[in-house]
Amino acid sequence: MTKPSVLLARRLPPQVEARARASYDIIDNPEDRILAPAELAERAHACQAAALLVCTSEKVDAALLDSMPASLKVVATFSVGYDHIDVAACKARGIVATNTPDVLTDSTADTAMLLLLAAARRAYEGDSLVRAGGWKGWHTMMLLGVQPGGKRLGIYGMGRIGQALAQRARAFGMQIHYHNRSRLAPEQEAGAVYHDSPESLLRVSDFLCLNAPSSPATRGFLNAQRIELLPEGAIVVNTARGDLVVDEDLIAALQSGRLRAAGLDVFTNEPNLHPGYAGLPNTFLLPHLGSATIETRNAMGFTALDNIDAVLAGRSAPNALW
Ligand code: DGY
Repeated sequence: MTKPSVLLARRLPPQVEARARASYDIIDNPEDRILAPAELAERAHACQAAALLVCTSEKVDAALLDSMPASLKVVATFSVGYDHIDVAACKARGIVATNTPDVLTDSTADTAMLLLLAAARRAYEGDSLVRAGGWKGWHTMMLLGVQPGGKRLGIYGMGRIGQALAQRARAFGMQIHYHNRSRLAPEQEAGAVYHDSPESLLRVSDFLCLNAPSSPATRGFLNAQRIELLPEGAIVVNTARGDLVVDEDLIAALQSGRLRAAGLDVFTNEPNLHPGYAGLPNTFLLPHLGSATIETRNAMGFTALDNIDAVLAGRSAPNALW
């Protein structure tokens, strides 16, 4: 019996591709080139794809869906975020859309903590000094940072990743505050202080971590007006999506010292981030590594395949988005 065809838009970790090949006819992308929509459609038609496995680099909009063969039953994204997928357009065409929640919660929360500490402790400046041979010896006032312990951490978006970050930050002695669309149950709050408006949260956030998905409601959230609400010298961390931040406003506040530092893993228009970030010593910048551990990337791939397996077997997908 012929196996259903699955089109992989990007290269996947070896163990994930091996499992995919065991179950399906795989049309892969070994060069990992980002394919134009027309190229994706051409490949999908050539193999009569039953499933399309994408990453955040592929925009799955109505136009792409319309260019796909009628054989397509599921679009599975290798990501928890799905702002690159028009879920309503998938639904209108009866194509199941799925994501990979849960499996990347810990690695992303770890990355947020890494950014928070690195920004607070001037890790980029210290590392640069050592590598450039500019370190002339220890002294009492060299590269002084600030201590997270005892400070207030404001978490904007208290979903799975926000809660996992709160758990880590508590171990560093931070006081947790949060804003979320709805208040959490007491056992999930674990003592965190709820703010019913983002503005109220910003006023107490010595550290602000962005953990909300990108949506029409959150895009451009951190702009000049909201930065003004933060305590003087606050530190900003973003592991969610770059478009939650207005780059020009954040860069200006980091340049003026209104904000002490920022730790950023995500950017608008990745990988072509705003050039203003590169010249800022008070930033610690990562290339979207939130979920980049071997364990997590395998788990994301296996979750995407679980979703495809379910749909192609006529079952409901564990992580269906509609
Ligand atoms: C996600 O899963 O949404 C991460 O940002 C990786 O793309």
